[in-house]
This record gives sequence, C-alpha cells and structure tokens, in this order.
Amino acid sequence: MPDKIRFSIVGFGNIGRRHAGQILQNPDTDLVAVCDIDPAAKAHVPEGIAFYTNVDEMLGKSTADVLCVCTPNYLHEPHTISGLKAALHTVVEKPMAMSVAECDRMIAAADETGKTIFAVKQNRYNPPVREVKKLMANHELGNIFMIQVNCFWNRGDSYYAGSDWRGKKNKDGGCLFTQFSHFVDILYYLNGPVKEAEGWIHNFAHRHNTEVEDTGSFVLKAVNDAIINFNFTTCAYERNMEGSITIFAEKGTVKIGGQYLNTIEYQQLATATLPPINITAKANDYGLYQGSMSNHDKVIQNVVDVLLYNQSVMTSAEEGREVVRIIEQMYKGAVRV
Ligand SMILES: NC(=O)c1ccc[n+]([C@@H]2O[C@H](COP(=O)([O-])OP(=O)(O)OC[C@H]3O[C@@H](n4cnc5c(N)ncnc54)[C@H](O)[C@@H]3O)[C@@H](O)[C@H]2O)c1
Repeated sequence: MPDKIRFSIVGFGNIGRRHAGQILQNPDTDLVAVCDIDPAAKAHVPEGIAFYTNVDEMLGKSTADVLCVCTPNYLHEPHTISGLKAALHTVVEKPMAMSVAECDRMIAAADETGKTIFAVKQNRYNPPVREVKKLMANHELGNIFMIQVNCFWNRGDSYYAGSDWRGKKNKDGGCLFTQFSHFVDILYYLNGPVKEAEGWIHNFAHRHNTEVEDTGSFVLKAVNDAIINFNFTTCAYERNMEGSITIFAEKGTVKIGGQYLNTIEYQQLATATLPPINITAKANDYGLYQGSMSNHDKVIQNVVDVLLYNQSVMTSAEEGREVVRIIEQMYKGAVRV
C-alpha cells in the first residue's frame, strides 16, 4: 500500500462530489479519477484529475486503490463488483444494494478478490448516536422494551425533477432504501437484528412524480424481543421536521432527536448523564433539500485507518447486507393501502 490512498469515484452527482471534497481534504488520500455517464459532470471535477464517462474504461486505466460507488441505488451492485474485480477496495453509498441477493453477490466478489467493501453509514458517527451506542454496548440500559423511530422529512417536487432514478421502483426502491435506510441502520446498530415486521405504506402526495410510497408505519419485533414502532413520511409540510429514535429500557429512557439524529433530546438514565449535545449546523445540505449529518470526512478516514493502520471497518458489507435484509422484510410485511 502506498503512503497515500488513491481514490476514484463513479457517479459525480450530489454525494460523489461530497466524497471528492473529503478525499481532497484528507492528508492521507489522493483523488486520481472520476467517472460520470453525464459529460456535464466534468465541470465539477477539479483540474488535474482524470475524467471518464465509462466506468470500465476508468477501471481499465486505474491507478487507484479504492473506488467510491456514488451512482444511483440500482447501480451499486454492478459498480461495486466491477471495482472489486479490478482489484480495488470499494466504498459503497447507502443503501448497499436493492436486495439481499445483490448484497450476497457483492460479498462473494469481495471474498473472491480479497478486497474490502466499506458500506457508507455515516450516521454512526453522529455524537448522540455514539453516546447511546456506548451505553447500550456497556449494557447500561438493561433490557430494551420499546423503541420508537420517527422519520418525518420533506421531499418536494424539486427533489424529483430532473432525476431519472429518484422515486422509481426499480432504480430507487422506496423511501426505506433512499431516505430512511440511515434510520434502519442506526436501529440495527444500537439494538441488533429484527425478526418480524408488519406495517402499512401509501403514496399520499407524490403520485405525480414517484412510483413508491411516501408514508409508512410499521411494528417490528427485534431478536432481543423489543417492540419497535417505525414511522416515516416524506410529506412533512415544507421542510424536514424530525429524525429521531427513542429507547425505553429497564434502566433508562433516551431520545436521540433533532431533524437527523443530531441531539440528545431527552434522557432519564439510572447510571449516566449524557453530555448535552445539540448539533444544528451539520446536515448535508443539497440546496433544494437537506439530508442527514455530514460525516463523510469520517467515512474516508475509516478507509485510511483500515488500509494504512490496520484498524477495523466501521460498517462491514455484512452489516450493510443486514440493513437491506431488514428493509426487504419491512416491504414484504407491508400492506399497500
Ligand atoms: N450517505 C448519504 O447521506 C447520501 C446522501 C445522498 C445520496 N446518497 C446515495 O448516493 C447515491 C447517489 O445519490 P445522489 O443524490 O448523488 O444522486 P445524483 O443523481 O445526484 O448523482 C448520481 C450520479 O450518477 C451518475 N450516473 C448514473 N449512471 C451512471 C453510470 N452508469 N456510470 C457513471 N455515472 C452514472 C449520474 O449522471 C449522476 O451524476 C444514491 O445511492 C443515494 O442513496 C447517500
């Protein structure tokens, strides 16, 4: 491995450009090539960095160690496998893929090539999530009784306009894949796997521009027997309202809240007092809409830490697959009303 990790990126839209920004800022990383099928994306590529419109051509000429897969959801599987087969480690944006079968093929390719898949789940780095993770890992909450996940965001017409994949059943997959897989991941990260799921989904306000639901309400049963309420909508009026996880347990109640899991909104704990965290300025801002906390610096740093300093992967491919499995289970257990 060289002194610096050399990155390439496929997909140079909103999130690809964010990856580039973080790679350029990190002293241990270089950006060597970018690919986007849209030639207009070249305008956003910093000078001196090779630009391609064909991913196979980029991989064929690659001097990179890592490929960041920042294309739409339905391309995560083929682009990750192409990267691995070209002997590159891959960083794959969320969701890892659109089905467990796709994830299995990606993991098989990583096993065959001996390269690593890094699944992007940047909300794991949110300070409130880290605090609650520590509590739960130390069993300081005792038995977990009930968890309430509320994802109340806004996605307006401008979000879907001009995009050929957002809101499409076979390219996007639905809100649980594209908007709220972050919350499924944090639920899984904190409380472990889910064994049962049932719920209702409906498209109330986005029928003119999406083929998927915009609202859903689920009850899940975790393997540790906690009862989980998972509610989501992209119909919050005019702007994102809330993205929260509340945990009711034997030795405490705690709510990670704000719009994107950015505050400790409530705590009543037997053994600890969490620091008052209220981060308000770190949402990924895409101009016309806001996403979750902007921690891609830490995603890139984790790749450096693993490849240069033998540390462990923050989110493995197996964990990325488990999130996709929960989402699949939720959609299978859903009645479309
Ligand atoms: N982690 C996060 O918080 C976060 C935030 C936003 C998006 N994402 C994920 O990142 C992915 C991209 O989302 P986005 O908002 O950047 O979308 P986008 O539409 O802004 O960008 C996607 C880019 O991929 C390019 N592309 C499409 N097909 C291609 C191909 N075959 N080869 C090369 N380039 C191709 C498009 O031209 C476009 O520029 C999605 O999977 C999304 O879920 C993650």
